Amino acid sequence: MSVKYCNLEYWSARYLTEVQGGAYDWYLDYTDLKEALEPHLPEDKAAEILYIGCGLSTLGIELAKDERTAITCVDWAQKATEAMTSLATEHGVKLTCQTADVTTMELTAATHTCIIDKGLFDAHLTGDQGTKGAGVLAPLHNALALGGKLIIISHTDRTSMLQESPLSWQIDVSPVEAKSRTGRTYYLHALTKVDPPPPEEPEAVEEK
Ligand SMILES: C[S@@+](CC[C@H](N)C(=O)[O-])C[C@H]1O[C@@H](n2cnc3c(N)ncnc32)[C@H](O)[C@@H]1O
Repeated sequence: MSVKYCNLEYWSARYLTEVQGGAYDWYLDYTDLKEALEPHLPEDKAAEILYIGCGLSTLGIELAKDERTAITCVDWAQKATEAMTSLATEHGVKLTCQTADVTTMELTAATHTCIIDKGLFDAHLTGDQGTKGAGVLAPLHNALALGGKLIIISHTDRTSMLQESPLSWQIDVSPVEAKSRTGRTYYLHALTKVDPPPPEEPEAVEEK
């Protein structure tokens, strides 16, 4: 991904024309993703799912068709969220669409149970100055309740980068093949927010 993908101006300009083509999914569509995604979704179908960097993707719509009743789609490009609102109406499903930058948007701390990203983290990393995605990871970690999940779908296995994060996560990664499309393999990272490890005890000094 080139560095332009981390700029709002780039996406706003791109969606000016791209919205005319209707829905479009990067990497994987729901058909390919469903089996790997489902075990990480909340058992309660009424639980909120926040889909960040939704673009023109059908993922939120397909989840709503699967009777998930509280999907919020967020993107910083207004054209994308406007198009997502129209797509939801066309498909006869209810979605909440919000225009916001996920690195700065107000999210109530420690309340969210499921946040999904497909491509936003990759886009952000194209302009990341060596912080290993902290600008995205830190606010989302803060927003999640303990046991809540951030699901990152990426073109690259990000496990080693995520393991270096100082945030307390349990990380599970599964490769997912885009069977119905390119045949390429993508990576679903399920990051579960866990308690931070207890502070290390200072080593006891043996008395002589
Ligand atoms: C690679 S596209 C993926 C779109 C969609 N998730 C999909 O799978 O087709 C990345 C999306 O993330 C959005 N995005 C990038 N950085 C963002 C940020 N900081 N806040 C909100 N949206 C962002 C872009 O506008 C773009 O729609």
